[in-house]
Amino acid sequence: MGADGCGAVVSGPDVRPNLNAMRVIIDGRPVNEADARVSVFDWAVMRGFGVFEVIRSYGVAPFRLGPHLDRLERSAAALAVGLPGRDDLISWVTAVAENGEGQVRIVVTGGGRDPLFDAPSQTIVMWEPIPDIPSPLRVMPLEAPWHPGTADGPLSGIKWLSYAPNMASADMARRAGFHDALLYSRDGFILEGPTFGIAWLIGDVIETPGLDLGILASITRSVLFEIGEHLGIEVREVSAPLERLLAADEVVGLSTVKEVIPIGVIGDREVRTGPVAGRLRAEFLSIVADETGPSA
Ligand SMILES: Cc1ncc(COP(=O)(O)O)c(C=O)c1O
Repeated sequence: MGADGCGAVVSGPDVRPNLNAMRVIIDGRPVNEADARVSVFDWAVMRGFGVFEVIRSYGVAPFRLGPHLDRLERSAAALAVGLPGRDDLISWVTAVAENGEGQVRIVVTGGGRDPLFDAPSQTIVMWEPIPDIPSPLRVMPLEAPWHPGTADGPLSGIKWLSYAPNMASADMARRAGFHDALLYSRDGFILEGPTFGIAWLIGDVIETPGLDLGILASITRSVLFEIGEHLGIEVREVSAPLERLLAADEVVGLSTVKEVIPIGVIGDREVRTGPVAGRLRAEFLSIVADETGPSA
């Protein structure tokens, strides 16, 4: 792993893909990258309609595949998108994970509704290398009026393809010189990053926004509760204003790809990158190693 100093990156290992393994499987068929296509009539292309998951593979072992597939099922059910059988999904994920350390993306498209052309729903399973991740992260707080900010309603907390507001927020933050955005609701509650969750240490308690705020049920965030138990640190779900975060002792970002990383800047405030973030990260990696083997 890279150093945690300012401007450092937590980079994926120097990836040497296993060239014998296929990177892309569509509806169970391994396809060459140049032949990996989706119909222009698919609502995934026309309207961002579909669902997805991103699973990290350590060595060739996917981490917490079960919970990722559970979440995929919940997302698909919310949009009434059909899924292939779970055994098929597991075998396709396992097959592309053979490429080595990386991230495996599952995309299930919504299929088309064109009256003249039937574009069936497609399930794409693909392997990608881990991008370099800056650490500590510098994030720009942004109000997200588009975010449900509540779990009321059937379409909150879904991992769907309609991520344009998320990505536009991240891009806006990058244009302003930050690494990423940190979203808060209309009524001022801290939510999540566009592609990551957040938690902070205040006194001797770790706080993290509650799922009742309509944030994604992050798999990494669920591991944080286990980490808290292992380390004897209480992890509490809260609805908290941005000021609470600015008063925190340490802040971490949470995601499958970022794992647990310190956040060092929030807007114009510097946050201490202290020892607890390091302990949380180390414990996360130890859980990963226990479940996926020594390559983690
Ligand atoms: C909006 C949002 N919140 C949180 C997360 C972190 O979720 P996980 O830990 O399952 O990767 C993601 C991941 O992509 C996300 O898109």
